[in-house]
Amino acid sequence: MPLLDRFRQAPPSAFGRLRHDLSIGLADTAISALWALSGRVRDISEPAARDELIPLTVTDRRLVADDVVALTLTAAGPDPLPVWHPGAHLDVHLPSGRIRQYSLCGDPAVRDHYRIAVRRIPDGGGGSREVHEQLTPGATVATHGPRNAFPLTLPGYGSPAQRLHFVAGGIGITPILPMLAPAARLSVPWTMVYTGRNRPSLPFLDEVAGYGDRVRIRTDDVSGVPSAADLLGDCPDGTTVYACGPAPLLTAVRSALVGRDGVELHYERFAAPPVVDGAPFAVSIASTGVTVPVAADESLLSALRRSGVHAPYSCRQGFCGTCRTRVLDGTVEHRDTLLTDPEREAGMMLTCVSRAAEGRTLTLEL
Ligand code: FES
Repeated sequence: MPLLDRFRQAPPSAFGRLRHDLSIGLADTAISALWALSGRVRDISEPAARDELIPLTVTDRRLVADDVVALTLTAAGPDPLPVWHPGAHLDVHLPSGRIRQYSLCGDPAVRDHYRIAVRRIPDGGGGSREVHEQLTPGATVATHGPRNAFPLTLPGYGSPAQRLHFVAGGIGITPILPMLAPAARLSVPWTMVYTGRNRPSLPFLDEVAGYGDRVRIRTDDVSGVPSAADLLGDCPDGTTVYACGPAPLLTAVRSALVGRDGVELHYERFAAPPVVDGAPFAVSIASTGVTVPVAADESLLSALRRSGVHAPYSCRQGFCGTCRTRVLDGTVEHRDTLLTDPEREAGMMLTCVSRAAEGRTLTLEL
């Protein structure tokens, strides 16, 4: 099926999720206000219900940068895998039971396998270590299928913009890489800045290099830490910016675009957002009676993990629902947009983003 037909057939956000931080502070507030005023707030639909898990086998594994491994995950059966669009990710169910989210960075036209890339984070929650140490060819994982909250809308094909500018930092190339092919194929004017510590730290440099001088590779060891101007270039009105990378990169881009009414920004973050306007409180663990204090600037989930309490999680941003926990006592300050009113009334909360009122205690069914 021609690429354009695929774009028309299904909206890229059909399995979307809200992957953006809703409470990042002034820059977010200002940018969100601009989007709202200009009517450009994206419509992100609820994830589609997919009850069954799809088994996937690791059939190839390749080191694509320092501490970054790319995995080919192949369908176990003859049926084609669910379709996906640039910007999509998989919730990958690892053999340990952990669930981690990884952007799809292969070719959407290929239906018998997916490709993901994972940077090893030595002091993270263990998911990337498991991928690096245990997901060798023959290993199996599972997924409910692709979801997308970072969909690409091309100028002339649904977007009023005239050009695209991509900003990728390190492993942030993964959701953006599949966007480049349709932009190039459909002759959409576009540029990209790809940045990182040094060239060995940048995944898929060989594939990115194929796009020639539209892409500017900029590394800290040669040019220093990039400014917002370095990342955005001249960025004239009529540009849509897609950015993915570490928090400082996203903060620089977002702050620089406050007040730029003619520039549209879409971004995706990998890490948990900072806590904004938090107050200290405590939780009591029902199974042990242990009390865990939660500082004003840390999430409840972080406090639980710091205290050795087993608490499931995945996105750490309030959109996947993995950390859903029942509250037996206390009043929750809900900070997510995922739980329904009946779920909240039933005592559920998301420990990665929601909290209790200052000085209050929650009792959790953990
Ligand atoms: S970990 Fe995803 S919603 Fe909390």
